[in-house]
Amino acid sequence: MEYLTHSINFLFFLLTSLLISSGANSSSNNSQFFECLAIKFQTLNSTISDVIYTPNNSSYSSLLQSLNERAASISKLRPVAIITPWVESEIQAAVQCSKKYGFQLRVRSGGHDFEGLSYISEIPFFIVDMRNMRSISIDDEEKTALIQVGATLGELYYTIAAKDRTLAFTIGVCPTVGVGGHLSGGGYDMMSRRHGIVVDHIIDAKLINADGEILDRKSMGEDLFWAIRGGGGTSFGIVVSFKVNLIVVPQTVTVFNVSRTLEQNATQLVLKWKQIAENIDENILLRLFLRSIRSPVDGERTIQASFTSLYLGGVEDLLPIMQENFSELGLVKQDCTEMSWIESTLYFAGFQNQSLYVLLDRSQLGGGEIYFKGKSDFVQLSIPENGLNGIWEFLNKEDIKQTELQLSPYGGRLNDVSESETPFPHRSGIIFMIHYLVICFEDGNSALDKHVGWIQRLYRYMAPYVSKHPRHAYFNYRDLDIGKNNIQGNTSYAQASAWGSKYFKNNFKRLVQVKTQVDPSNFFRNEQSVPPLPTLDSENIYLSLQEKMFIVTIIIVIIFNINLVTLKL
Ligand code: FDA
Repeated sequence: MEYLTHSINFLFFLLTSLLISSGANSSSNNSQFFECLAIKFQTLNSTISDVIYTPNNSSYSSLLQSLNERAASISKLRPVAIITPWVESEIQAAVQCSKKYGFQLRVRSGGHDFEGLSYISEIPFFIVDMRNMRSISIDDEEKTALIQVGATLGELYYTIAAKDRTLAFTIGVCPTVGVGGHLSGGGYDMMSRRHGIVVDHIIDAKLINADGEILDRKSMGEDLFWAIRGGGGTSFGIVVSFKVNLIVVPQTVTVFNVSRTLEQNATQLVLKWKQIAENIDENILLRLFLRSIRSPVDGERTIQASFTSLYLGGVEDLLPIMQENFSELGLVKQDCTEMSWIESTLYFAGFQNQSLYVLLDRSQLGGGEIYFKGKSDFVQLSIPENGLNGIWEFLNKEDIKQTELQLSPYGGRLNDVSESETPFPHRSGIIFMIHYLVICFEDGNSALDKHVGWIQRLYRYMAPYVSKHPRHAYFNYRDLDIGKNNIQGNTSYAQASAWGSKYFKNNFKRLVQVKTQVDPSNFFRNEQSVPPLPTLDSENIYLSLQEKMFIVTIIIVIIFNINLVTLKL
C-alpha cells in the first residue's frame, strides 16, 4: 500500500512538474531536473508532497512569503519549486539534480536577507528552504548547543532558557532571524562588547558541498570551516547545522531605554555617547537608535535619540558606572528594569510582558506588503556636530516617514580578536557601526524609488565621516548597491573585489582561494557569492594582473602605431 502511494505521488508529481516546466520555462533542463528529483526522492522513499512544492500546490504562496514581500513581488521570476527537506539525503538529492542540469539553487533558512537573495533570482531557480530542519539540542554539562539552521534565533533563545537559565548565546535582536544566514555571516548582538561576534563561538558545523557530500569540521578542513564562519555559507555549500559554545550569564541583567529629543539636548547627548560607548565597562552595550518623530510639544518633526542598553549585572552596579561615564543622560533607577537574560530577549524584540512562547512564533516572518532597504557603515573617527545636523535634516524629510539609524558601539571583546581570525574583519579601530534603514509602505515604483533614493543620498552624505578606501560594510546587512557579480557567466576577482573587499577586507582573498578549492565550478552562486579563480592555482590572482598589464601594453602599442600612421599621412 505504502509503495502504491509513493508511486502515485511520483507519477502525479512528474506530470504536474512537466506541465509547469513546459508552461513557465521551455528549457528541457527544467523537466529533466524535476524528473531527476522525482526519481531520487522515490529511491529515498521520501513523500514528495511533503517536500517539493510547485506553483500548483496550494501552500506554495504561503511558503514563499517573505520578510521583504514587495521586493519579492517586484522580482520577475518566482521559484519553479520550493523544496523543504526533512533529512540530509533530500538536500543531497536536490544538490545533485541541480548540479546535473545546471539549475540555480537558492538556500533559505530564516529568509531575512536584506536583498532577498535567498528567495529572489534573476534567472530560473528553485529554493531549498531549511524550515523543517530546526532541531536544537543543548548540552548543559559541556555548555554547547547543536543547532540545525532552520531554527530561528527565538527558538534558540527559548530552548537554551528552557534547559538552563544560567546559559545564553550571543545572537541578535530579532527572534525570527534564521540561524543559517545569521551564523554564517557574522552576528552582532546586545552582548557583543562582552562576548564578541556570534561566529567567534562556532566550534563545528555540518555542510553539504557541491558534490552532495556531507562534511563536518574535520572532513571539510580548517580553511572551509574558517570561510563559513562569517564569509556566508551560501558561497560554499548548504550548512545543515552549527555547534556552538554557549556562554554563562548572570542571573540578573539590567535593561533600559531612555529617549531624548532635540529639545531635550539630544545632539549633545549623541556627541557624548560617541566618546564613551566604546570605552565604557564591557558589560554594558549602549546602542543608539535615531529616528524622526512628531514632537509631543508642538507636533513638529524632531529627532528622537533612544539609548537602549543591556548591562550584565544588577542596577546597583550599573548606576555608578553610568554616573561616572555618562551623567548627562541623567539615568535613574526608575528608568531601569532588572530581569533574566531570556526576558531581556523579549524586551529588545519589543515583546514586553508577553509569555516566552512568543519566541517560538515564526509567523511574524511575513512582513506584509512592505519594502525595506538597509545599508551599513563603520565609523572610525568622530562625527562632528554639523555632521549630525545634516543627518537630522535627512531624517526629518516630510515625505519619508519610516527611517532609522541604529548605532552599535564597538570596544571590549570586539577589539580583542584579530581581523583574520574569521572572515568577519570589522574588529579594531572602529567606534561604532551604523545600520541605515528605510521602510516603504506606499504602493508604486515612484514611492519605492523615492525611498531608495533617500537612503542612497544619505549614504553619500555620510562618506566623509566613515571608513574609507574602501568604505567597509557588514555582510549580514546585505547591500547590492556596493557591487555585484555578473548574473550569467564568470565574475573576475577584480570585479568581485569591489564588494568583497568592503565586506571582508583582506580576508576576501582567502575566501576566493577556499572557494576555488571547494567549488571550482561555482555551483553555489548568487549576486554576492565569492567567485572561484579560473583555475585551482591561487597564483592566478597575480596572473590576472599580468594579463591586464599585457592587454594595456598591447593597447599602448596599437595607439602608438595609429599615431605613427596618422603622422605619416
Ligand atoms: P536568509 O535565509 O535570507 O539567508 C541569508 C543568506 O544566507 C542568503 O544568501 C542565503 O542563501 C544564505 N543562507 C541561509 N541559510 C543558509 C544555509 N543553511 N547554508 C548556506 N547558506 C545559507 N544581524 C545582526 O548581526 N544582528 C542583529 O541584531 C540583526 N537583526 C536583524 C533584524 C532583522 C529584522 C533583519 C531582517 C535582519 C537582522 N540582522 C541582524 C541581519 C541578519 O543577520 C541577516 O539578514 C541574516 O543573513 C539572516 O539570516 P536568515 O537565515 O534569516 O536569512
